[in-house]
Amino acid sequence: ARKHRIAVIPGDGIGKETTPEGIRVLEAAGRRFGFELQLTEYDWSCDVYAKTGKMMPDDGLDQLKDSDSIFLGAVGWPGVPDHVSLWGLLIPIRRGFDQYANVRPCKLMPGARTPLANRTPAEIDFYVVRENTEGEYSSVGGRMFPGTDREFVSQQSILTRTGTDRIMKYAFELAMTRPRKKVTSATKSNGITFTMPYWDERFEEMAKQYPGVTTDVFHIDILCAHFVQHPDWFDVVVGSNLFGDILSDLGPAVAGSIGIAPSANINPEKIFPSMFEPVHGSAPDIAGKWVCNPIGQIWSGAMMLEHLGEKEAADAIVKTIEVMLAEGGPRTRDMGGNAGTVDVGKALAEAVAKF
Ligand code: NAD
Ligand code: IPM
Ligand code: MN
Repeated sequence: ARKHRIAVIPGDGIGKETTPEGIRVLEAAGRRFGFELQLTEYDWSCDVYAKTGKMMPDDGLDQLKDSDSIFLGAVGWPGVPDHVSLWGLLIPIRRGFDQYANVRPCKLMPGARTPLANRTPAEIDFYVVRENTEGEYSSVGGRMFPGTDREFVSQQSILTRTGTDRIMKYAFELAMTRPRKKVTSATKSNGITFTMPYWDERFEEMAKQYPGVTTDVFHIDILCAHFVQHPDWFDVVVGSNLFGDILSDLGPAVAGSIGIAPSANINPEKIFPSMFEPVHGSAPDIAGKWVCNPIGQIWSGAMMLEHLGEKEAADAIVKTIEVMLAEGGPRTRDMGGNAGTVDVGKALAEAVAKF
């Protein structure tokens, strides 16, 4: 059988509840479609940080680099400052493995409830393509004169030409695979005077290479409003690291629940492993109750299978999620049901096995 080596990092909070359900469904898909997953689990998390002072070992990236993909739950837990936990684990993987394309589908599943009135699944079906290695997250800056009245903090947004062009190209290439072939750029060139006019310039340049793709451009503020009022306008939305982060929580909220939203951190050149994780975080408010929605994790698993060349299995998982929701199968509280995390995972695994 085909074999795929997967590094599994459940992480914190509900990550420990969603990843086992993700694995359950992936393994069911493997049995059904004829591949084998060789799983290596890493306990890197805020719990381990409390004991060792490290979110991952110094050679953490080395330990991951020979895996075919990384399957991650969530990182962050009260008691460890977020900038320490996230910058000790999640962000170093994204940056270290040059996973520059963060691909986040926003899709209203049949049977899911959108907070928007009278919207149908055909009207909410787009991707947020988020730049994932630079921009507002560049980590250049610092605190000067601490504790004095001259104290200040500053942080630079860095857009490199390579980094900007390659995320735009990714978005246009993705649009080319979709029926509507449209890319929307998220900008703020009216207010952020150096980086965003540059972003617009590079977007226009890239658009010239894709005459078959329709484009439009909105400032991030009105774009947020349009996500709510006109989700049907969007096909592929490309944004900088921070704008993409914001849009990729808003998009899934519009599509019913952040609990089902998947994401892929892709290194398109496949020099390094890519990483697949739900959009949501560790949800401390519901962790430990086993009521969180595992669909974001499971759907992220489907994106991982597609990346690994298991397209048939990937499509089967997404289809199974659609059918289960459309037919009123078990659903968690965030989607108006009362099923537990494991109920949903088991139901999906059984359905995939019989696909
Ligand atoms: P969050 O996504 O963890 O939770 C936001 C809200 O959504 C909460 O009310 C939560 O209960 C709900 N929610 C999230 N996922 C759900 C699911 N699968 N099913 C049902 N409800 C769900 O965001 P937050 O509260 O801002 O962050 C909590 C921690 O997670 C912080 O430490 C944060 O930095 C971290 N975080 C990590 C990631 C990641 O690992 N990629 C992403 C976002 C936040
Ligand atoms: C996400 C998260 C992370 C991000 C945080 C936790 C650093 O919000 O994956 O969307 O901003 O990228
Ligand atoms: Mn986010």
